[in-house]
Amino acid sequence: MRFHVLTLFPEMFASYLCEGILARAKEGKLLSVNFHDIRDYTHDRHRTVDDYPYGGGPGMVMKAAPLFEAVETIRDSGELAGSSPVILLTPQGRTFTQVVAEELASHSEIALICGRYEGVDERVADHLATDSISIGDYVLGGGELAAMVIIEAVSRLLPGVVGSAESPANDSFTTGLLQHPIYTRPASFRGRNVPEILLSGHHAEIARWQRRESLRRTFLNRPDLLDRLPDGALSEYDIRFLEELSGPRNS
Ligand code: ADE
Repeated sequence: MRFHVLTLFPEMFASYLCEGILARAKEGKLLSVNFHDIRDYTHDRHRTVDDYPYGGGPGMVMKAAPLFEAVETIRDSGELAGSSPVILLTPQGRTFTQVVAEELASHSEIALICGRYEGVDERVADHLATDSISIGDYVLGGGELAAMVIIEAVSRLLPGVVGSAESPANDSFTTGLLQHPIYTRPASFRGRNVPEILLSGHHAEIARWQRRESLRRTFLNRPDLLDRLPDGALSEYDIRFLEELSGPRNS
């Protein structure tokens, strides 16, 4: 899979992409990330990428022309198919979730446009980008961190990037629930003990405990996820357990 990142700050990405699974994925040729400095697609002496907003208002706006030219140049080079997603990172986009990561992982090339300043000329969202994505309800200084989040979440889903032992299949959100608690040695640490059941060797019992703790944690921390589970995701046993957690009603 190949990402094209359009940014004013390509050097922000270097150390992040040189460590851990992303570095391994790049070495193994499972992943490549190409950076395109937006200023390289300007034609004035000052390499201008922003301008004042029409209608007034605070801050500066990223110009459309360098971004159009950058994407068109990448497409003309044959490194980005006309049908590949071109994603604008912006707080105004749809929210990035594991489901969106899975959707993006089915593409072989993706372009990510990192906005900066107060925003990006709307013609980029309307006529250049095929999608606008936000990584959450907060405003960052630009789309660079959002691009890194997307690259990491999508790359983990590519076959071979994460070893099968660490398979993403049980990750929080892949199942629609938060992950159950996990522990490693020692069994007792400063008087705090690992739940007995995990030391029992009873695989079926352990799986039931993990399921219950997953439900409990989701109920407590992210009840909104329970409302969004697909039909049939919860067994009768799960439903009964959740009812116990909600406590007696009408009493
Ligand atoms: N740029 C600034 N804030 C952002 C956010 N929350 N998501 C994506 N891009 C952004």
